[in-house]
Amino acid sequence: MSRIHLHYSNMLDSALGDHGIGAARIRGDLAERHRHALAEVERRRSTGEMGFFDLPYASETAERVRELADGFGQWFENVVLLGIGGSALGARTLRDALLGPFWNEGSDEDRDHYPKLYVLDNVDPASARSLFSRIDLGRTLFVVISKSGSTAETMACYLVAEGMVRDLVGEEKARGHFLLVTDPEEGALRRIAREEGIPSLPIPSNVGGRFSVLSPVGLLPAAITGIDIDALLAGAARMEEACRAESLAENPAGLLATLLHTADTELGRSIHVLMPYSDRLRSFALWFQQLWAESLGKERDRDGQVVHVGPTPLPAVGVTDQHAQVQLFMEGPHDKVVMIVGVEDNGDSVRIPDHRGDAAGLAYLADRTLEELFESERLATTEALRRAGRPSLTLSLSGLDAHVLGALFQLFEAATVIAGALYGIDPLDQPGVELGKRLTYGLMGRPGFEAPDLSRDGGSDVLGVDLT
Ligand code: PA5
Repeated sequence: MSRIHLHYSNMLDSALGDHGIGAARIRGDLAERHRHALAEVERRRSTGEMGFFDLPYASETAERVRELADGFGQWFENVVLLGIGGSALGARTLRDALLGPFWNEGSDEDRDHYPKLYVLDNVDPASARSLFSRIDLGRTLFVVISKSGSTAETMACYLVAEGMVRDLVGEEKARGHFLLVTDPEEGALRRIAREEGIPSLPIPSNVGGRFSVLSPVGLLPAAITGIDIDALLAGAARMEEACRAESLAENPAGLLATLLHTADTELGRSIHVLMPYSDRLRSFALWFQQLWAESLGKERDRDGQVVHVGPTPLPAVGVTDQHAQVQLFMEGPHDKVVMIVGVEDNGDSVRIPDHRGDAAGLAYLADRTLEELFESERLATTEALRRAGRPSLTLSLSGLDAHVLGALFQLFEAATVIAGALYGIDPLDQPGVELGKRLTYGLMGRPGFEAPDLSRDGGSDVLGVDLT
């Protein structure tokens, strides 16, 4: 059976002494704080502002996704997702976690004849050129994903891809290489879909980018590559129910949010590390980073007062980061909580052979397995952090399947909006990215936007080093 356990004793004073949160508070003042935060979330949910809570139950959408994925989606050898932020990170997480980071390198048989999936989420010309020159564009479907339907980066990549496909197959046939995922009514992408009859799927208007992985934004690329989207949604639905519990001690999202918020605001632990012991969850840590950062980093609270709050999410991966960041986590400033993710059944076993005897002092490894070493390192790091007075949480996953991943997405999304209520800010907006967007438009000459004067950047405070 698929299962997630949240172990939080290493956040508490019983394990950490003065560095921990009083265990009794879980049933005392923190329970009360959580109750208020949950009520605020419920209030906004009931006004229809938090549409992501309904996604696990949107069976008609899932049906439509499946139809397109099983039909049109299978005509191609490659699928290239063009999107950014919340419109890209979920699909990459799904691919890496459930299909493995080397999916695209496998043969057709390895992939059960499902397409390869590439995610282009930047306008770095080197990435665009190297991807487009390596794949057969004539056998490629571009899935263009943008909630607003106007994001400059996504639209620029769309125009580049469209230009190349048109050059190859002509304007008429080129349309057959695109599928658009966007707002049901608004935006340039929706207009294009409508006017040119390009197949499209809607992102519900009350679901924001970083909360959209269980909408067609993540479901479509998942279904095209053969991922069981029903299991994904079922896992999310189960977690959605669990995260409604009023009692803090019984609400996994409530516990995550409340403990992390308390660690930040009372114990100075403002850096929240997500460290899965799984290469397949590296992308999940990046997904979490965007969700936590863009949702919780805010200048103003809900009353308009300047507060400048927000924890800093930091992705890491075990064991690799034991040889990189863990030194800092153990001995650096007391400003972090480490969320460790363990996967009980990796689905794979690799035995370490015994061909050298003890000549090289390696006998302790012989006849053991890589997964035993992986698990021992995770347990050892958790204990080492505890002994150093460093708080940690552990999410223990029974395995990495669609049920578990759907539940993980839902857990962190629910925790994010509860944390938003605890910080007193709006987790659904992102006003801080607007200025940069407007300045970019100005620099690119978009009508109605003024180009900023950047002349001081060309001034004297520059040090150049000639290298050849
Ligand atoms: O979470 C968000 O709202 C953002 O990160 C968006 O996903 C990102 O800016 C892309 O926006 P759009 O989907 O409108 O292109």
